Amino acid sequence: MTVSHARPGIVHHLPPDHHGRNLRADVRAGLTGSPKTLPPKWFYDKNGSDLFERITELPEYYPTRAEREVLTNHADSIAAAGPAETLIELGSGSSRKTPLLLNALKKSGPLRRYVAVDVSDSALLEAGEELSTAFPDVDLQAVAADFETQLHLLPHQGATMVAFLGGTIGNMEPEARARFLHHIRELLLPTGGSLLLGTGLITSPDVLIPAYDDAAGVTADFNRNVLRVLNTELGADFDVEAFEHVAVWNPEQEWIEMRLRASRPMQVHLPGISLDVRFEEGEELRTEISAKFRASGITAELEAAQLNTVGQWTDEQNRYALTLAEVK
Ligand code: AVJ
Repeated sequence: MTVSHARPGIVHHLPPDHHGRNLRADVRAGLTGSPKTLPPKWFYDKNGSDLFERITELPEYYPTRAEREVLTNHADSIAAAGPAETLIELGSGSSRKTPLLLNALKKSGPLRRYVAVDVSDSALLEAGEELSTAFPDVDLQAVAADFETQLHLLPHQGATMVAFLGGTIGNMEPEARARFLHHIRELLLPTGGSLLLGTGLITSPDVLIPAYDDAAGVTADFNRNVLRVLNTELGADFDVEAFEHVAVWNPEQEWIEMRLRASRPMQVHLPGISLDVRFEEGEELRTEISAKFRASGITAELEAAQLNTVGQWTDEQNRYALTLAEVK
């Protein structure tokens, strides 16, 4: 379906109650495991999405600004190296940086359509509204889909650029990343095209850790929001303020871990999945990994999925990279 310019619509590829079933399965698996974990995708209800937007404006959180810097300086070279008729953006969220890419792709070739893919309807609607005004001659499609499992359902024609920005691939563990990149290749194979991948680079822990543990406590609030989501959606009774925000750099895995540490022993009831969970004092629940990369590691992972790097661009301070890779 095409998004009309007056009232953007959303095509749903998510089965009915995908959200609820997925949440219940994830929470049961994560809270009955040892150590306890929760997947980061459940941060992003309306409040969580707003908190993330505030994070992107914090002085300590450099990735969003670094990515914008790379796009501002190099979007034209990127678009010249990967001209496309269709731009698909995965995890498009607020689509704040998309205009930089759309403008460059319009200059480099026959850009016809933009497909925004996100699990959040509200983000898709807001973004669609703004983009349809700015790009009246580009066909805008908003698709609610889970990009870890539903890539094969995305509409596209002609040479396609898949953009996966923000460093969100860092939320996946290495095996999940390999599977995901393999699916991207399968998506691109019939039409030809490229993947534009945004990744945080490994930098000093003195820079990395404050980015995930800011002085104003916005990230702490964002982290605890996952417990509020469980309270709302599963009728759970987490005492949200009794969990402390923890951010650590794991040098072996080369990722930031966010955790929530129980400040006292607690028994939590989750009626929505008929589960009771106990937390010891000091016990930590892992809520996110955010992997950082070396330039050579990115191209090696792409290569393993038969995606051939054709260009790589970084910010001045070498903290963030955009890598463009083609299907072989
Ligand atoms: C949106 C997944 C890219 O990992 O840096 C921000 C989320 N977590 N602060 C990231 C996040 C803590 C962010 N991503």
